[in-house]
Amino acid sequence: MQAMKLSPEIATLIPYKPGKPIAETQREYGIQHVIKLASNENPLGTSPKVVQSLQKALTQQHRYPDPSFFELLEAVAKKWNVSKSRLSVGNGSNEIIDLLIRIFCEPGDQILTTDKAFVAYAVCAQAARVGRIHSPLAPGYKLDLQAMTKILLEDSRAERVRLVFIPNPNNPTGTYTPDSEVQKFLQQFGNDPNRLIVFDEAYTEYVRAKDYQSALSHMDKYSSVVVIRTLSKAYGLAGLRVGILAAQPEVIDYYNRVRNPFNVNDLAQVAAVAALQDDEFIRRSVENNSQGLDYFYSELKKMQIPFVESQANFVMFDTLREVSKVNEALLKRGVILRPVLNYGFKTEMRMSVGLPEENRTAIQALKEVFAEIKES
Ligand SMILES: Cc1ncc(COP(=O)(O)O)c(C=O)c1O
Repeated sequence: MQAMKLSPEIATLIPYKPGKPIAETQREYGIQHVIKLASNENPLGTSPKVVQSLQKALTQQHRYPDPSFFELLEAVAKKWNVSKSRLSVGNGSNEIIDLLIRIFCEPGDQILTTDKAFVAYAVCAQAARVGRIHSPLAPGYKLDLQAMTKILLEDSRAERVRLVFIPNPNNPTGTYTPDSEVQKFLQQFGNDPNRLIVFDEAYTEYVRAKDYQSALSHMDKYSSVVVIRTLSKAYGLAGLRVGILAAQPEVIDYYNRVRNPFNVNDLAQVAAVAALQDDEFIRRSVENNSQGLDYFYSELKKMQIPFVESQANFVMFDTLREVSKVNEALLKRGVILRPVLNYGFKTEMRMSVGLPEENRTAIQALKEVFAEIKES
């Protein structure tokens, strides 16, 4: 067959690589007991209140879902104190990222984000034939809004930047941007009609830093602010796919015109309403996470393994070894973590917080693997 005619952007696209599934690892390595700390999922599972609501809704699945998300938007508006006219929903926040790029960028336009930012921004932009500018990081893998400012003011491509993506906190580094820096940036760019400033707050519930604040609080003052949240992490609904978009009504209007009318299925909507009302589940999830992170920090310190302090539900650390070998040795022991080579890191890995016993198993496996494989 002759080679298909394709745009070079599509021909060279490297898709987002999700964490290795448990069943695949069981099959490939012939082992039963596998733990997965590779996709920043909620280790507490699905909230019992969500399960109850889903069971009730199961007999109604011959109906199309509500394309206006009436009940779900009520629940979000109440919980986050944002008017419904400023809200919409996506099939995971990944769909929202994809749609924002399709709606607000034309081929040849640019998105601006940071080096080592969550990779979906660049993948979705490339798929839409949109350019990617990555600003350099500050020391400690911190997002550097001054570097972004410099690009927006001085780089010749800045004129075509339609969307700025600020993951706060970021994945895979777990670092965050303090509110004072966000405010300074918004004073300069927060009301510029030429572009939107998108804050991706997938991990906001887990943040412990005192000087962090959600950008939802800046939406009244700055019209360019867009906030994306997900119910895949602390709310425990990764399998059902629910992301929330908060922005000015005009942005929401365009988003609703372009999205598929049934982009979020009925069970997902039902589950999301129940999850948003289950404060106790969030409290337990956040508590488990804080304890798990502290445990990881103390064990990694004992092993003299450098790590980046995280505001999310995972920690990135430097194996100081060839990461593919470390990964293979971990998989043989039934432990799935995440190498982050696709972010341009060479020896680093990311480990999600699990249940206490899963965390202990992962640390034990790392100790064995580090003893087995020499530093490179
Ligand atoms: C920073 C960030 N944003 C967005 C997402 C996408 O989440 P989802 O599509 O499950 O809502 C992730 C997932 O890992 C993430 O780390």
